[in-house]
Amino acid sequence: MCGISNKFKNMYKTSYFITTPIFYVNANPHIGHLYSALIADASARFQKLCNPSINVIFSTGTDEHGLKVQRAAEANKVSVENYCQNISNYYETTFRKFNISHSSFIRTTSKKHNVSVQHFWKRLQPHIKKGKYNGWYCTADETFLSEDQIEIINGMRVSKESGRPVEWTEEDNYKFDLRPFKEKLVDWLNHQERIKPKIFHDILLREINYLYEISLSRPKHRVNWGLTVPGDDTQTIYVWLDALVNYLTISGYPEIKMWPPDVHICGKDILKFHGIYWPIFLLAAGLKLPKQIFVHSHWKVNDEKMSKTKGNVVDPIEASHLYTESGLRYFLLREGTAHSDGNYSDLKIRRILNAELADTMGNLLNRCCGKAINPNMIYPDLDSIAIEKLLLDSKFKELNTRLNILSNTVGNHYEELNFYKGIDEIIATLQCCNRFFEYNKPWQLAKNDAIKLSCVLHITLETLRISALALQPIIPALTNKILNKLNVKSRNWNHVTPSWINKDQYDCPKYINKENNILFKKLVIN
Ligand code: MSP
Repeated sequence: MCGISNKFKNMYKTSYFITTPIFYVNANPHIGHLYSALIADASARFQKLCNPSINVIFSTGTDEHGLKVQRAAEANKVSVENYCQNISNYYETTFRKFNISHSSFIRTTSKKHNVSVQHFWKRLQPHIKKGKYNGWYCTADETFLSEDQIEIINGMRVSKESGRPVEWTEEDNYKFDLRPFKEKLVDWLNHQERIKPKIFHDILLREINYLYEISLSRPKHRVNWGLTVPGDDTQTIYVWLDALVNYLTISGYPEIKMWPPDVHICGKDILKFHGIYWPIFLLAAGLKLPKQIFVHSHWKVNDEKMSKTKGNVVDPIEASHLYTESGLRYFLLREGTAHSDGNYSDLKIRRILNAELADTMGNLLNRCCGKAINPNMIYPDLDSIAIEKLLLDSKFKELNTRLNILSNTVGNHYEELNFYKGIDEIIATLQCCNRFFEYNKPWQLAKNDAIKLSCVLHITLETLRISALALQPIIPALTNKILNKLNVKSRNWNHVTPSWINKDQYDCPKYINKENNILFKKLVIN
């Protein structure tokens, strides 16, 4: 496989199982939810480009039970079933619009999920006991919190994590002790790649010193919207246990087809559930543990936390009317980093999209189609003598080096789910090509050096082809447009190599299509 380093080759997979969290249906999706799905989508797309016959499970869906959803439906005066159905549908519509390529969309209200949860509960039974439980319950976080996870603001006790109120709760329920599993949990955590990025691994290592007994159910009279504990219709299964088991349901549990997942994607607010509760439940049930948990930080809007009360929650579909779906996908994956919060701002989005999609990429493509330098819209063949000469030129040397290693560098960043770093490499390559193009003054070559002009055009079009191929996981619809315009047929990852290197695999386009001249329409900046 040409252009793929050893490290990268070792990661070549035949199956891939990636999940997003399932989303609460107490409100419509926002850009943060879309971001979780985009990381998984870009990763699944990248794996398919590397190996088109790979078996990919990419799951997402909606988390529909629990007090939070029950109260949201009551507040909206709608039956809880209809409420869930509507919001779950809106998630599906949103994901479809943004080309999320999930292979399954699970709803926790589905029958097959109930079967799976009931089965899982029975496997945990030897570790479950009934008794009194009391503590502070935070409905927004759907969890009991200890004193040190709570603070007092304006005389009210709130969760430090979400800033939302907690309620003192005393009730009979089923309990599960996390403490006996500490050693095995530490063994699992002691793997370099387990929790990424490292800052979140360190957070978990501190948290495991404070394992405790958790409540696994709630009395039906308090929480009726949920699955019933097997053999006890007075109790509802704790919504987080119900939700986490979705990852087993989609793998066919109790008849598992593919397990364990390669990566669970989750936001930093739900790290404890994925990095402590979930592996411990799996240990207790005698099942294999996930290979990796990839944790991402949050999106703020104009440097503020998104919240309904502030009225700054961004609906992805509404945002797409301003920036297009590809524009929003590009911005979120370009600017989102896992280790620290991202900032969503209208001006920043417009600047980035204009500079990178409209100018650096779109303009370069337009210039290759200009009447003065390419009247017949050809994708010229490469002249081997002309390229030898060009190799002496320092502007081409830099571009050539970048192009030769692009599939490796970008591939490694994508493999690590660091999409922003991969995009950065691609944009730097396109900028380098813009300098190369400018330096060679093709408008003058058109008058006196047809051979060199063809060579410059070939190299520039190759850079566009390779960049578009490498951007496919990020902006599939927009890259499809470029690749169609360039008549590129072979679109896998091993085609992310220039024609003069990857001669065997290369099937060179001959013409550029006349349609679709504007790749990305410039956005107005006031
Ligand atoms: N239902 C639980 C997950 C159960 S998974 C077994 C849940 N749902 S959620 O709808 O509240 O959040 C879903 C995902 O969206 C989480 O990964 C969360 O971190 C993420 N985000 C919520 N707000 C976010 C931002 N502002 N920015 C980025 N991601 C954010 O938790």
